Amino acid sequence: MKIKDSKIYFEDVAAEELAKTYGTPLYVYEANRIRDNYRRLQKAFQTRWPQFKIYYAVKSNTNPAIIRLLMEEGAGCDCASANEIRLATKLGAKGEEILFSGNNLNEEDFAEGAKAKALFNLDDLSLLDRLLKHGKPEVLSFRVNPAIGKSNVHDSDVMAGKQAKFGIPWEKAEEAYAKAVDAGIKRFGVHMMTGSCVTEPDYFAEITTKLLDCVGPIAKSLNIKFEFIDIGGGFGIPYTPDEKPLDIEKTATLVTKVFKEKVAQYQLGEPQLVVEPGRYLVGDAGFVIGRVHAIKESYKKFVGTDIGMNILARPVLYGAYHGIFVDKKSEARNPKSEIVTITGQACENADAWAKDRELPKIEVGDLIVVENAGAYGYVMSYPYNGRLRAAEVLVDQGKHKLIRRRETFEDWLGLTI
Ligand SMILES: Cc1ncc(COP(=O)(O)O)c(C=O)c1O
Repeated sequence: MKIKDSKIYFEDVAAEELAKTYGTPLYVYEANRIRDNYRRLQKAFQTRWPQFKIYYAVKSNTNPAIIRLLMEEGAGCDCASANEIRLATKLGAKGEEILFSGNNLNEEDFAEGAKAKALFNLDDLSLLDRLLKHGKPEVLSFRVNPAIGKSNVHDSDVMAGKQAKFGIPWEKAEEAYAKAVDAGIKRFGVHMMTGSCVTEPDYFAEITTKLLDCVGPIAKSLNIKFEFIDIGGGFGIPYTPDEKPLDIEKTATLVTKVFKEKVAQYQLGEPQLVVEPGRYLVGDAGFVIGRVHAIKESYKKFVGTDIGMNILARPVLYGAYHGIFVDKKSEARNPKSEIVTITGQACENADAWAKDRELPKIEVGDLIVVENAGAYGYVMSYPYNGRLRAAEVLVDQGKHKLIRRRETFEDWLGLTI
């Protein structure tokens, strides 16, 4: 996104043109930004450890055009459910190009994962017998809880440690692999996912050390080989003005340094180093364009837009901050700023989702643009109060195309009998 003469552009396409063509609220993604994010991450790690693989965490943005774009770059798909596996398969991902890191799986999940020959990251030892009913997998991985976690988003996004529902406590991991060996499984991987939106490089080195200190002794005592070591996603992006971007070169340097040391120490050979990011790849490539429909002077000043908690859930769900920009209607606009609270259209007081922000003076009919909405944006939206889901548009090399149409009244009603 860029701002020129107070107007907002996505790869040279004006926000106003997109709003006129597709209506608002509207999710917009910049394809080049997604490619840049992927290539930066891939290069940083691969130059230091060539056996490196990115599986895109599909859950962060399930639009097929986005998944396809990342698959064209070389990404595999990290899926969380039977439907995400179906989606990845439909887009051409096969077998070991699909990681299945779901939790609390049901029979449909097992069946679809087995049918796709996906790489299962089992979240608990108790799931092994259920998976075996669908046949013996070629390769098996367990999700280990290394008893350490972190999130710059919200406490609920800390995905490992004693309060986390995910993974096998690392002290019990050997028992899980021993059971898999007894079942005749011969090829192994290991997985962890400890947190979200972390921007401190040291943290990734710390968790990698922890995971390898767990895996090393298991490889020795059970005499098994780990073909891949998956350190999860969680690579952060800055949301607030004072947050700094994650230094990915430094992260890759620190992680591959401990990776090489530990792999040598435990004689693990040359396992593939796997990451499964979502937010880092698509988060800052996505925006929501909304229209201002009403301005209200109450005890404070409210700017009513069509971007509500139902369109972008993160602010209300996590107390998350998203930067907001105003696309000025005309150059004659008053440039003076004022303190306002941005609301959506839901009948919920929580829907005042950006409180007391200093923004250029806004008028009814103006467009606002919310940044960092590419990950956990559209996928978490829901139709509430009859305010239906937005459309999605991809801007690529100066061209724009609709990649998901707006939800209609017929779609909304279509599920009822
Ligand atoms: C198992 C797993 N892998 C990867 C991710 C992607 O995380 P992020 O978008 O923070 O990189 C998640 C997010 O919840 C996850 O649960």
